[in-house]
Amino acid sequence: MSSFWKQLKKPVFTLAPMEDVTDTVFREIVLSVSSPDYLHVLFSEFMSIDGFCHEIGKPKVKHRIQVNKSERRLLDKKNVKLVAQIWGTDPEKFYKATKEICQEYQFDGIDINMGCPVKKIVKQGACSALIAQPELSKEIILATKEASNIPVSVKTRTGISKVVTEEWIGNLLETNPAVITVHGRTQKQQTEGTADWNEVRKAVNLRDQMESDTLIHGNGDVFSLEEGFRKAEEYGVDGIMIGRGIFQNPWFFSRNKNERSPEERLSLLWEHASSFVQTWDKEKNFAILKRFFKIYTSGFYGAAQIRAELMECNSLEDVRKVFASFDEISESIS
Ligand SMILES: Cc1cc2nc3c(=O)[nH]c(=O)nc-3n(C[C@H](O)[C@H](O)[C@H](O)COP(=O)(O)O)c2cc1C
Repeated sequence: MSSFWKQLKKPVFTLAPMEDVTDTVFREIVLSVSSPDYLHVLFSEFMSIDGFCHEIGKPKVKHRIQVNKSERRLLDKKNVKLVAQIWGTDPEKFYKATKEICQEYQFDGIDINMGCPVKKIVKQGACSALIAQPELSKEIILATKEASNIPVSVKTRTGISKVVTEEWIGNLLETNPAVITVHGRTQKQQTEGTADWNEVRKAVNLRDQMESDTLIHGNGDVFSLEEGFRKAEEYGVDGIMIGRGIFQNPWFFSRNKNERSPEERLSLLWEHASSFVQTWDKEKNFAILKRFFKIYTSGFYGAAQIRAELMECNSLEDVRKVFASFDEISESIS
């Protein structure tokens, strides 16, 4: 199978899968202000295949891989790719879920989560807990590949409590996934400390020694494009995944590096909030949006005051009222 991953110009930049963050609405917002020269692939939030393969569970999880038509149109227009991330423990369910995703959805790739360190998930033996189950992990990748007509990748960490990068990545490479994204932390570290990019480099060296054609992407603590380019060069990775960097700057992947005006920031916030309400209506709580308000309301005079007011909002109408008073706010603080 030909893989789109191989056709992308290196270093490839990807937007990380992030639960309750990278839904179809936010992805489209990021995409709308990104240059396809700097953002090549976006990932969905992770979705439980146990839920997806269950009649009652399905409606509760399938929103995680929803793709609005407008997002798909923009992806196609910019020639940017979209990958669905899934998690679980049962190879048969990986097979079944992947078949359905390939038939019913418009993704360009499937990614298997072998990195999430959240307690209630690893207790089930899933995600980063799979690092301790090398045989099962391989079965999962092979079952997913067998069901898939699009490339299959894996996102993982460097170990559970001990760093075992070479042993673990070596195990994954035996199944020849299209990409392995290595977050340079162990499960135990969660997001503590700093990502160890020397471990990421070990994965690259191992891939080269094994003469595998799997691409190795690095992830962890990259907060600017420039740093991404530097790290790609220094550690030899084929691509860089950006997670929390997007919280600091929604224009992370933009060509235009100018400071954004308050009007531009608030207008993007408004677009995001309206599209969120239109897409999710009563399915998702408006409060989820509040974590995003911070993203748009920083770096300008008066931002803290507007942010505080936005944090009190419980509807789009409330946001509209805060914006209507924006002129007053800016006058009163100038
Ligand atoms: C709010 C949040 C949600 C996340 N959800 C997922 C997820 O669904 N799947 C996944 O593989 N990683 C998830 N992650 C981890 C990120 O994809 C990424 O590996 C991590 O944030 C480190 O990258 P960064 O330093 O660029 O943020 C999440 C991280 C955050 C902050």
